Amino acid sequence: MVERPYTLLSCGMSIDGYVDDAGAGRLLLSNAADFDRVDAVRAGCDAILVGAATVRQDNPRLLVRSPARQRERVARGASPTPLKVTVTGSCDLDPSALFFTLGDVDKLVYCATGSLERARGRLGDVATVVDGGDPVDLRCVSADLYTRGVRRLMVEGGGTVHTQFLTAGLVDELQLVVAPFFVGDSRAPRFVGDGAFPWTPEQRAELAEVRQIGDVVLLRYKLSDRFELS
Ligand SMILES: NC(=O)c1ccc[n+]([C@@H]2O[C@H](COP(=O)([O-])OP(=O)(O)OC[C@H]3O[C@@H](n4cnc5c(N)ncnc54)[C@H](OP(=O)(O)O)[C@@H]3O)[C@@H](O)[C@H]2O)c1
Repeated sequence: MVERPYTLLSCGMSIDGYVDDAGAGRLLLSNAADFDRVDAVRAGCDAILVGAATVRQDNPRLLVRSPARQRERVARGASPTPLKVTVTGSCDLDPSALFFTLGDVDKLVYCATGSLERARGRLGDVATVVDGGDPVDLRCVSADLYTRGVRRLMVEGGGTVHTQFLTAGLVDELQLVVAPFFVGDSRAPRFVGDGAFPWTPEQRAELAEVRQIGDVVLLRYKLSDRFELS
């Protein structure tokens, strides 16, 4: 069996299942206490993965923000903040994006074989560009991350990436935060797209925890036998 990291998928969504609105800016779904919880979850992971569209649209930092958590990581021999990982077919990524410029840690770009040369020319100074195959198979990405020492992977969006991880059965734990409002606009992106998900009315996922955090609710689902209730 191919080894892969323990994989935790973390996502915030509106009551009606949207992860953003249809506008240009980033929609804040969560509250300060939950952002701090997410920071703690990040601090416990070896790598954070997002899709290239999230890098382009949200320009996220993807860092552990708390200095105390950074120090705790360094004290146990880890980098202050997890490795950053993205996947792209087009390699249409800006080397000045915060994904690349922030954080004293390696950045990995899994790129489709056809764009590899262009990707290395464009991003070679700011990231390690890896041939992800054509198309990039997230099973191979997971297995490759394991060989690079990643034992705990956090997937943080967007929907295209969520869909592939979930339909491929690569997720051990789902952390879903529901924000108390509606987006109500079908042009906006949803938590996942179409796909054959392993959890169906006949094969229900196991709800492991429900936690109210101010005005949002965290739902934790056990999606594999490797699930760890911490
Ligand atoms: N609420 C939340 O928790 C949360 C978190 C993150 C993101 N978001 C939102 O999600 C939205 C973006 O989601 P999205 O679904 O459009 O995009 P996404 O999942 O972030 O990224 C999709 C892109 O990733 C690349 N990609 C994904 N799988 C690939 C594969 N197998 N092979 C090659 N490339 C692959 C492609 O990049 P190329 O186009 O470069 O080929 C694809 O266009 C944004 O609105 C963002 O705000 C919300």
